[in-house]
Amino acid sequence: MNNGTTQQLLNALQWRYATKVFDATKKIPADVWQTLERALVLTPTSYGLQPYKFLVINDPAKRAELLPHSWNQKQVVDASHFVVFTARTKMTGADVSKLIQRTSDIRKIPAESLNFYRDLMLGDIVNGPRGKTAHEWATRQTYIALGNLMTCAAVLGVDTCPMEGLNPAEYDRVLDLNYSGYATVVACALGYRAANDKYAGLPKVRYEATELVQQV
Ligand SMILES: Cc1cc2nc3c(=O)[nH]c(=O)nc-3n(C[C@H](O)[C@H](O)[C@H](O)COP(=O)(O)O)c2cc1C
Repeated sequence: MNNGTTQQLLNALQWRYATKVFDATKKIPADVWQTLERALVLTPTSYGLQPYKFLVINDPAKRAELLPHSWNQKQVVDASHFVVFTARTKMTGADVSKLIQRTSDIRKIPAESLNFYRDLMLGDIVNGPRGKTAHEWATRQTYIALGNLMTCAAVLGVDTCPMEGLNPAEYDRVLDLNYSGYATVVACALGYRAANDKYAGLPKVRYEATELVQQV
């Protein structure tokens, strides 16, 4: 990477902010959105298990229904795109088998050659001690996707607002997620900042790198 691109990356991270007011008239172009969806899909996860689904809420009526369950944050209805991150409520043998089959298909290797890998996953996140907290684990994976999405969006000049200010149980109800095996974790509004969003001009509040990053 040359200095040009490192500076561009830092500029993008400095430029981005949790957008409070979106310009409801500006839509993310289809090709840019496709790229962001691809970035979501390319997110790395523990074991590669991808224990999540990303719900892109295109229906304005659904967004309006979600608004009161989002602390009335208008980003939900004004942003060009709105993504709800959901995580598996538990991990099962079927989740493991699905990944083994997918790996076997894509890499053109026998599924049996992955038995060690299968047993490792089953003995950990399904039947092992971590199986009991698999939803917590899956939730952490969704945050990796959220971070990835926000950074990629910033690089492409797209504004975002990550949103934990929502009622997950109400989201699950509105989005019909109960009994789906997935539960709402967090959301992200994406689009373009409105000219009158005063938050855009505020200096970033971060601790010194010497405090947050320690060289050991
Ligand atoms: C997981 C997460 C949840 C957040 N939830 C909300 C939210 O519901 N509403 C909001 O306006 N900002 C929300 N924020 C934005 C943070 O307050 C903001 O990212 C932080 O103060 C740093 O500021 P900056 O992103 O503008 O640089 C959230 C941020 C993260 C990472």
